[in-house]
Amino acid sequence: MCNKLIAYIFAPMQLLDGKATAAHIKEQIKKDTAEHIANGGKQPHLAAIIVGNNPASEAYVGSKIRTCEELGFGSTLLRFEESITEDELLAEIRTLNDNADVDGILVQLPLPKHISDDSVINTIDPGKDVDGFHPVSQGKMLLGQKSYLPATPYGMLLMLEHYKIDTTGMHCVVIGRSNIVGTPMTVLMSRNANPGNATVTICHSRTKNLKEICLQADIIVAAIGRPKFVTEDMVKDGAIILDVGINRIDDATRKSGTRLVGDVDFDNVKDKCNFITPVPGGVGLMTICGLMMNTLEAAKQHS
Ligand code: GUN
Repeated sequence: MCNKLIAYIFAPMQLLDGKATAAHIKEQIKKDTAEHIANGGKQPHLAAIIVGNNPASEAYVGSKIRTCEELGFGSTLLRFEESITEDELLAEIRTLNDNADVDGILVQLPLPKHISDDSVINTIDPGKDVDGFHPVSQGKMLLGQKSYLPATPYGMLLMLEHYKIDTTGMHCVVIGRSNIVGTPMTVLMSRNANPGNATVTICHSRTKNLKEICLQADIIVAAIGRPKFVTEDMVKDGAIILDVGINRIDDATRKSGTRLVGDVDFDNVKDKCNFITPVPGGVGLMTICGLMMNTLEAAKQHS
């Protein structure tokens, strides 16, 4: 076993603190943005679209818009009723594509059932696809070309980089195969880069022997969307865990009657890990950093 792995196994658990890491990265983005504008570049401008009134989406989009203000970006928030048709929504996206002041466009998912995610994503100008969801962005990422990386996987890479975790040669098990998190994370962790250079296994709802596979993991990325899905018996000593889940569960001890938990049974798993992200306060905050990094890059491309 290489020394790096031995060092990880005997180190005490360290929290991968999304709040502190995001604060550090946002400070850097704010400085870079001020410098870019001082050098005659255009102010980054993010346009966000929200359809309907899903409370979780409201909270995420609100946080993205507030972060734009914090970093010195311009922002536009467009709200539409749940009843908007797909054609009407696509027309709104095309208007933003044609607006030279807008650098980045995001349409918060999930969308109402009568609107196709694929049609919406495919309509966004790839040059403004700061969520990194467009087939052009994902295709370039797959081929190792410069592209806007999907915001959540990008945020996780920024987190690993911030904590100077060298993932070379590690076995990374990604649980979940969504287009926006699980699948791109497998690509990014296996590419010839650091973070990256890992041996990657992708698992999903139909995987057999999930526990045995997870027990072989040096890194687990939990992105399956099921509360406390990864339990203590699935994690080997010294593992690194990135928990993408944000699940609201009942909790009678809370005033609200609910609380947020991840896809990992944090309380029972944490002492087995060398590094683990909490929920809330972990990967979620890093997603916004990924989005803001992409938006600044888009503004640079448009200057
Ligand atoms: N819904 C859940 N995560 C995301 C995200 O990163 N971007 C958008 N647009 N919608 C989401």
